[in-house]
Amino acid sequence: MVVEGLPRLRFSKASIGFVGDTPLIVDVEMTVNAGEIVGLTGRSGIGKTTLLRTAAGLISTLSGTVECCCTESTRAERGAIGLIPQRLGLVQHQSVGYNVILGALAKASLLQTAFSLPNRVMRDATRDAIEAVGLSDKTLESVNRLSGGQQRRVAIARAMVQNPQLLLADECLGELDAETAREIIDLLRSLARDHGMAILVVDHNPVRVRTFCDRVFQLRGHSLIPFDEEPADRGSTLPLVKEDSA
Ligand SMILES: Nc1ncnc2c1ncn2[C@@H]1O[C@H](COP(=O)(O)OP(=O)(O)OP(=O)(O)O)[C@@H](O)[C@H]1O
Ligand SMILES: [Mg+2]
Repeated sequence: MVVEGLPRLRFSKASIGFVGDTPLIVDVEMTVNAGEIVGLTGRSGIGKTTLLRTAAGLISTLSGTVECCCTESTRAERGAIGLIPQRLGLVQHQSVGYNVILGALAKASLLQTAFSLPNRVMRDATRDAIEAVGLSDKTLESVNRLSGGQQRRVAIARAMVQNPQLLLADECLGELDAETAREIIDLLRSLARDHGMAILVVDHNPVRVRTFCDRVFQLRGHSLIPFDEEPADRGSTLPLVKEDSA
């Protein structure tokens, strides 16, 4: 059942960064609810990936709290959090099919995972996801023989098969031509709308990100602020950003 509006990710008074360094971002207040896509933009090196990795529990907050698919008294279910890392994290010498089915195994029993024993449902979901990202003819191809954009689509298919409650997508639209990016955006929208997935997506392109996200935040200095709070004098027309810049 899709429970729209349920918070899947909540930062409260969070300070984000690395122990021993000055915090990258302070006072983070952000919620991502089931069924919505939230965008995050900001210049290179400002802390977008660090924020996503903090949401995923891979980095601890320096202060304040982050609740991700859990509350103070409950833990996240196995496979509830899906991450499409900026560097993709694919098994390079394995096939597209192998990489995508790993997403299904994120929710499987420990026995199934240990012996890589996907069932029929997982295999069907894998085939459908590979088809959805337009790579059916590459299913048996080794990932290290694919282009950068094709590899990005493999990482997206892997996250689709996992079907997480919260998807954290770090520049998943990079290296894609405008038409393929549009198809991936449609997929993300349908994951949010039809499956109630909460999605936080990092995109360098502030024009594009506002076309498909319900809300957009930007990182400025050490603050996370709604995109609309950008000062009016920072360019009265569309920002000079190429469609596929990443
Ligand atoms: N493990 C680490 N330890 C200390 N500092 C780090 C670590 N990883 C990243 N940083 C620093 O944190 C800052 C933010 O990096 P981050 O990767 O979050 O930026 P970003 O906004 O995602 O940039 P880009 O758009 O280029 O991907 C950078 O100055 C980086 O050098
Ligand atoms: Mg990054």
